[in-house]
Amino acid sequence: MNSSQALEKVDQLINSQDLDVQATLDQICGLLQENYAHYDWVGFYFRNGKKEELKLKSFAGSPTDHNIIAFGKGICGQVAVSNQNFVVPDVKAQDNYIACSINVKSEIVIPLFAEGENIGQIDIDSHQIDAFTKEDEQLLTEINTMISQFLQKEKALPIFA
Ligand code: SME
Repeated sequence: MNSSQALEKVDQLINSQDLDVQATLDQICGLLQENYAHYDWVGFYFRNGKKEELKLKSFAGSPTDHNIIAFGKGICGQVAVSNQNFVVPDVKAQDNYIACSINVKSEIVIPLFAEGENIGQIDIDSHQIDAFTKEDEQLLTEINTMISQFLQKEKALPIFA
């Protein structure tokens, strides 16, 4: 599946009247995980209320123990504070990293903004080393923008009150 096909699918899911917010996010995780061989685990974390922590909202792939991640901890927690994309070609080279599975070799985390605020992120793990390219970064950034618009339109923010 190329990026424009993926974006079209995401657009369809977002505009489907049958899906609520949870189902939409679940379907987007599944779509990406099933159609991109290097996406082994796909999840969305959002800020947990006013706490300085992230909470897992939706994922596709093996269940993780890391439902809650403190700001600053791991790749996800660092993105919650930096507001920057974080592409990790080799997770073994990271000191501040939370391992979800011994099979994971690389990771990408892209923040999700609403009204200028960093409210969450998409996190993808790969069993391949150095799996992620600029194309992944671009695709995931566009998907996050679409999801942000969707969440605002649905008046679904904050995700965790
Ligand atoms: N590896 C992440 C933790 C989340 S799991 O990948 C699902 C991190 O270092 O923040």
